[in-house]
Amino acid sequence: MHPDVQEVLVSKEDIEKRCRELGQIISQDYAGQSLILIGLLKGSIPFLAELMKHIELELEIDFMDVSSYIGTQSHEVRIVKDLTTAVTHKAVLIVEDIVDTGKTLRVVMDLLDSRNAQSVKVATLLDKPANRLVEIEADYVGFTIPPKFVIGFGLDFDEKYRNLPYVGVLKESLYR
Ligand code: IMP
Repeated sequence: MHPDVQEVLVSKEDIEKRCRELGQIISQDYAGQSLILIGLLKGSIPFLAELMKHIELELEIDFMDVSSYIGTQSHEVRIVKDLTTAVTHKAVLIVEDIVDTGKTLRVVMDLLDSRNAQSVKVATLLDKPANRLVEIEADYVGFTIPPKFVIGFGLDFDEKYRNLPYVGVLKESLYR
């Protein structure tokens, strides 16, 4: 285990098993449709890569980078990199690493809706419902976790730890 990790919350094996299950459910739900997976950079990359292996459909992938920051007046969400593919009349599945307050997802869902996607749903590796500030739920959830700061499998602290093969709780002494 990495020395900065207090405890492993979700193991590599559990992530792989859950991605296989979610892939099968998504394959059934979207049978006969033209699906596009939209990964939100950078945290969704390992989850998207694992999940798509288990989706048995013809699909496209694209990426969007959305930065979220606390300004002096409000919590703002800005599109840093937009899609290169049109989503008009396509079934869109947004792929996220974690849904925390829900603000990022709200902005991205509204944007894709305004571009006339056929449908817009969300798959997230992790869900932290205790911190939600916006009424929003993911359609496919890997694991529901307590309101702790986690790293690994795409999730970072200060751009580090994204490469850990599991999800762990960061030692509090490193950010307090
Ligand atoms: P939201 O808009 O508050 O839902 O923010 C979601 C984004 O916040 C995620 O895509 C992550 O980048 C980041 N985030 C939220 N919780 C954590 C965490 O525990 N560890 C690392 N990043 C997190």
